[in-house]
Amino acid sequence: MISNKINSGINGNINIPGDKSISHRSIIIPSIANGITEVNNILLSDDVIHTSEALKLLGVKLIREDNKMLIYGKGLNSLTKPKKNIYLGNSGTSARLLTGLLASQLFNSTIEGDKSLSTRPMGRIMKPLLKMGAEFDNTNEKLPLKIIGKNLNNSKIIIDIPSAQIKSGLIIAALNTDGESTIIEKNITRNHTENMIESFGANIKIEKKGSDTSIKIIGKKELKSKNIDVPSDLSSSAFFIVAALINKGSKISLKNININPTRNGILIALKKMGANINIKNVRNWSGEMVGDLDVEYTSLRGCELNKEMSKLMIDEYPILSIAAAFAKGHSLFKGLSELRVKESDRLELIKLNLNKCGCECEIINDDLLIKPSKKYNPIDCNIRTDFDHRIAMSFAVMGSKIGNLKIEDSQSIDTSFPTFINIFNNSGGNIL
Ligand code: S3P
Repeated sequence: MISNKINSGINGNINIPGDKSISHRSIIIPSIANGITEVNNILLSDDVIHTSEALKLLGVKLIREDNKMLIYGKGLNSLTKPKKNIYLGNSGTSARLLTGLLASQLFNSTIEGDKSLSTRPMGRIMKPLLKMGAEFDNTNEKLPLKIIGKNLNNSKIIIDIPSAQIKSGLIIAALNTDGESTIIEKNITRNHTENMIESFGANIKIEKKGSDTSIKIIGKKELKSKNIDVPSDLSSSAFFIVAALINKGSKISLKNININPTRNGILIALKKMGANINIKNVRNWSGEMVGDLDVEYTSLRGCELNKEMSKLMIDEYPILSIAAAFAKGHSLFKGLSELRVKESDRLELIKLNLNKCGCECEIINDDLLIKPSKKYNPIDCNIRTDFDHRIAMSFAVMGSKIGNLKIEDSQSIDTSFPTFINIFNNSGGNIL
């Protein structure tokens, strides 16, 4: 894929597909609820399809029609032993959430993934599950992971790593565990799992205690299915928002975007940079905050973001760095160590690729410093992505401004946003 300069910006009403995090949960939770759930606007990307194939292997009936899915849930303990290993491709969310699910089912199973997922840390979900009595047959805390399913014990677990995947894996395990499990979260992370199980009737109590969040779940209470409308994905929207902000003549509108406050850091950060973003029609969809966004080209200014912000927007640093490369003045983004254990080492790849484009960018400990250049003029510039969808899309947006970027392994985009190139080009983009 080659990303070229565009002339008159990107424009129009842009339909962003369903949220990836909520789509995964919209398959897993209804699969262990009672009754049929209809999920509308579900994202059908590679990652989400891996979750749905996993649940099929575990005996759940799922029917897909366009971007709608019907899920026939039969209860907390209704899953059955899979006939083969469960392959999860590139999807970290599937791996962490399903580990929690499978550790608390009464059969053994093995999950595995592609080359990138097989290098990512699994100890972060295995260790707290071990405290609940889980059992694994695995020596290196990486995939493939054999899970010895059993009844777990309710416990009190403290999560230090800012990770919604860990928290969600534990919550899902607690749903099928007798008695009250307590999960103390030290950092705010996206709360889609809590919102969804609450709307499915789970016995969950959430309390703020200073900077901690305490989540108490009384397990073995059967969940009741409820239809789900998946809001559009803010992380996918971010590529269009930044493309509109940096390209003159742009004006776009995005509808039904998930602006959940545990996850809306990109909007706060861009506003701090002076971005012309108007959020309207804010409403609540089963606990998820949704709004419509109007975005116009803006001359941005650099900004400094502290470590706390990284928890509200961890997936958006690649595209925020592109915005920073066209701002007036330096930007400093602090506390980004978690970026090193994503689909790629995103911290290194942001730096490497911005440098290739002619932008001064340095990593200082876990902070990222970006010093924009007045003029970028790349010649035969290959962008290394290590098969990371968000790096690929971010540098496609960079190419929309400076031209001539050849994005390697761009098929990774199917992981989260298979229609990205079509939608981008239909709104005025120029990706070949
Ligand atoms: C996700 C949580 C985040 C995020 C990922 C999706 C989720 O990961 O980076 O893309 O759906 O729970 P961590 O939990 O590792 O922070």
